[in-house]
Amino acid sequence: MNFDFTEDQILIQQTAKEFAQAEIAPSSVERDLKAEFPAEIIKKLGELGFMGMMVPPELGGAGLDTISYVLAMIEISKADASAGVIMSVNNSLVCFGLEKYSSPYIKEKYLIPLARGEKLGAFALSEPEAGSDATKQKTTADKDGDFFILNGIKNWITNGHSADYFLVMATTDKEKGHHGISTFLVEKGTPGFEHGKKEDKLGIRSSDTSSLTFENCRIPRENLIWEEGKGFNFAMNTLNGGRIGIASQAIGIAEAAFEAALKYSKERKAFGSHISNFQAIQFKLADMAVKIEAAKALTLRAAAMKDANKKYYKEAAMAKLYSSKVAVECALESIQIHGGYGYVREYLVERYLRDAKITEIYEGTSEIQKMVIARALLDEN
Ligand code: CAA
Repeated sequence: MNFDFTEDQILIQQTAKEFAQAEIAPSSVERDLKAEFPAEIIKKLGELGFMGMMVPPELGGAGLDTISYVLAMIEISKADASAGVIMSVNNSLVCFGLEKYSSPYIKEKYLIPLARGEKLGAFALSEPEAGSDATKQKTTADKDGDFFILNGIKNWITNGHSADYFLVMATTDKEKGHHGISTFLVEKGTPGFEHGKKEDKLGIRSSDTSSLTFENCRIPRENLIWEEGKGFNFAMNTLNGGRIGIASQAIGIAEAAFEAALKYSKERKAFGSHISNFQAIQFKLADMAVKIEAAKALTLRAAAMKDANKKYYKEAAMAKLYSSKVAVECALESIQIHGGYGYVREYLVERYLRDAKITEIYEGTSEIQKMVIARALLDEN
């Protein structure tokens, strides 16, 4: 077992860190307050090759491995978890699925600009009545000659306002249950396709989230991804990689909360000493550091298994389940160490808690991750 990163992986981590601290962190408080989408930052992430990190260069990507992606995601999310989720959705939920399952036509027309970061993607599985229970898709796609006609509503779609291309799951054959679900690539501006208002969220406020509605929206047959009836498997296989992305986002938030607490504890004095000298604070810092290391080990293992083309869905679920829990715990402890300063907007720490919470909800709640892990354990043994 080798725990050393390669020179290339270290270079990616360093590049991401420098960019994140210089260009993302300074404006993150203002963007959070205004719920403002980081358009310029996302453009620059594209120029750095961070919007299609694992896509081969001939398809517009950076041709890197999943370990490099995890390291970059941690650094970007440490500076701003909103930028992190925008990057994660484009990389893991959109580019990965298109690279693996789409036709040469889709790759040429849509994947290349997405991987270059010239266009932004979104992934539309959830519906008002199909969140965790994702097989219960009500959106329909009826065949009409060389077209499919989409009707229905999608909910909680990250990049819902800002994306150019949307991967939309819809039922093409009701009789077949989840084997009757298909995935379509829908372009922004297609007649019959609208997005709803931006959700006013607790955290990750500068990423946009909205509903999508489809009313007799005509999609050409060539925009069907993979095959008819494979849409649910497409979504599940894609979400496995997405869960590594969100685990990395959670680690970034946890590290930011930890580093803020460590710094503050060495500056703040109480009872005639820096509070870092008190065992009560030291134990909190030690617990946070151990949890972050453990979360990283789980996430990097899932990434390494994906890179080795091994089955990794259980490991990805474990990584997301644990890392998201650690993010919330570290954010809470960081607030506790900061006292009143942790509770006000000016000090950033309260944002870490608001941003951390969503990592336990999206791309499969913690309860769904436990279900996935338990089913895998029962199948394996
Ligand atoms: N990887 C690969 N395949 C999987 C899978 C996984 N992790 N989990 C389930 N599947 C496959 C099963 O193998 C099965 O395939 P076949 O029928 O072809 O053999 C199929 O999916 C159905 O699985 P089940 O029979 O287990 O169905 P279920 O209804 O009992 O459970 C579920 C399905 C695991 C709960 C699934 O619905 C699920 O993962 N739900 C959570 C959905 C989710 O993560 N949503 C996130 C929305 S996207 C988002 O948040 C994006 C964003 O914008 C940030």
